[in-house]
Amino acid sequence: MGIAAGEGKTMSQELVRTAQSMGARSRGILAADESTPTITKRFAAIATESTATSRRDYREMLFRSAALAEHISGVILYDETLRQQSPDGTPLVEIIKSHGSIPGIKVDTGAKPLAAAEGEKITEGLDGLRERLNEYYALGARFAKWRAVINIDSRLPTAHCVRVNAHALARYAALCQEAGLVPIIEPEVMMEGDHDIERCFEVTEFTLKTVFEELQAHKILLEGAVLKPNMVISGLKCKVRAGVEEVAEMTVRCLKRTVPDALPSICFLSGGQSDVDATAHLNAMNAGYETPWNLSFSYGRALQAAALKAWHGKSENFAVAQRVFAHRACMNGLATQGKWRPELEQQAAE
Ligand code: 13P
Repeated sequence: MGIAAGEGKTMSQELVRTAQSMGARSRGILAADESTPTITKRFAAIATESTATSRRDYREMLFRSAALAEHISGVILYDETLRQQSPDGTPLVEIIKSHGSIPGIKVDTGAKPLAAAEGEKITEGLDGLRERLNEYYALGARFAKWRAVINIDSRLPTAHCVRVNAHALARYAALCQEAGLVPIIEPEVMMEGDHDIERCFEVTEFTLKTVFEELQAHKILLEGAVLKPNMVISGLKCKVRAGVEEVAEMTVRCLKRTVPDALPSICFLSGGQSDVDATAHLNAMNAGYETPWNLSFSYGRALQAAALKAWHGKSENFAVAQRVFAHRACMNGLATQGKWRPELEQQAAE
């Protein structure tokens, strides 16, 4: 792509501004980019049929919540949603923008088995990505997301798996920045397994180190990118699970070892943590540590689970589901400032 003199500079400034506001204090990202099979599973759990209309209605309900203006800096969308309109003809993207929130788009096409690497995955979606990104920009997206899956046990991951996924993340990130979109770089070390927090630290450290080596090799403008990492945390089946303070301390230590100061925002995934755990961990990091980056959230399940349940597929539940969603967004907004307290959860329930 030919960039006229001066044009590249303007584009970089836009990337930097977007990346900074994505992790701005008191706000974070709503990951609402579940693929159709994934959202269909979530709807099945509340006995709700998944159709283009029900998916639109549910997501529109979230996007119309007043919580967006205060606590949601950006929303990650799935391709279908980026193209949908509300019944009154307003594009959902415009509803998001009306709150001063930024629309984004998931652009990977999923994690597939990595050939000749038992138990490991590689994320696909690079073919034709340049053209898709240009279309997404025209449709209003200003950032993108690509998730790499790093499975963990006593044997996995192999360095090879981490390297090829980091390479794909960097190629994706370069294409995003060329198209004027901020790349969310998501290397997710999974929580599934019985590994302890030390093992998670070791694997996360290696993964992040490898990712930033590749980002540098691909000349990524770090000031115009956002990292979406897992927290350093015990595996879901670990017998002795680390507490909140330990998760906060080890996560910040791991990030300080591996993430350059130039990056403006780190927005964590929730990865299977409970809603309150995801809030408590983020809060402990912001309350206890000075960091060169904004530490915020980019939660899917931990922001939506309670609202989905309250909605239950019924339009008469919109208002209550919006209240539940606003509460979760507010708790996480407080956590970005280290101002959340467990009592606040109780007060909201009363
Ligand atoms: P969770 O917060 O549910 O892990 O989802 C975040 C996400 O976008 C995963 O790619």
